[in-house]
Amino acid sequence: MNAVAIIVAAGSGLRMGSDIPKQFLELMEKPVLLYSIDAFRSALPDCQLVVVMHPAFIQKAANLLKDYAPSAIIVPGGDTRTRSVRAALEVVDHRSIVLVHDAARCLVTPALITRCYNEAVMKGNAIPVIPVTDSIRAIDPNGSHAIDRTTLRVVQTPQAFQGTTLKTAYDSLPDRDFTDDASVLEAAGFPLNLIDGDETNIKITRPADLDIAETLIRRVSASTT
Ligand code: CTP
Ligand code: MG
Repeated sequence: MNAVAIIVAAGSGLRMGSDIPKQFLELMEKPVLLYSIDAFRSALPDCQLVVVMHPAFIQKAANLLKDYAPSAIIVPGGDTRTRSVRAALEVVDHRSIVLVHDAARCLVTPALITRCYNEAVMKGNAIPVIPVTDSIRAIDPNGSHAIDRTTLRVVQTPQAFQGTTLKTAYDSLPDRDFTDDASVLEAAGFPLNLIDGDETNIKITRPADLDIAETLIRRVSASTT
């Protein structure tokens, strides 16, 4: 089946606190955004890339992608992640497998992308998750209480879907915001297919995450040379 990769990169990166949004910051001399583009092209060479950008940064993205990924479509995003995905869904072929990925997860591997795609072909969707390694407490009126972490999972991207199902789910909830796409499917009443994610598939959120990402990249290149 055809594949579409929606790479959401329209956020402002407030927690990173940098002058330009984190997706444009250089990680080992390569902009964060281009890592995801490379991983998708390697895993799914024929996939249609849709990059969602804040309107103020569309020109900057266009300059970056002009020679690098000329067939990528750049779409203006909204002021929440959900609105940014919604904007991308307006331009994609819904008969495809649609993978939605946070540009901020720049260490995504082609292997994880391929696994998500194949699982979505077989089972309708694929949501990568990893176990929680920290102790977790919930805040309550009496202070806090421990949560059994063995019942919890950290959710990653890419999340892969039959495009028609994803579009139906988004269209059925036009006014709500969610932190990811699995939550949209769930709220619309569709079952989810959780698969094993990858502990190195971190999300660049705060400055220290860039240092962690650099260490992980160096580790991979040391093991392959
Ligand atoms: N995103 C988006 N449109 C938005 C908000 C977020 O496309 N209106 C994207 C981000 O660019 C990022 C992904 O969704 O790739 C996950 O969001 P997050 O890590 O929270 O990034 P930001 O919203 O940019 O960061 P912050 O919350 O710190 O401002
Ligand atoms: Mg955010």
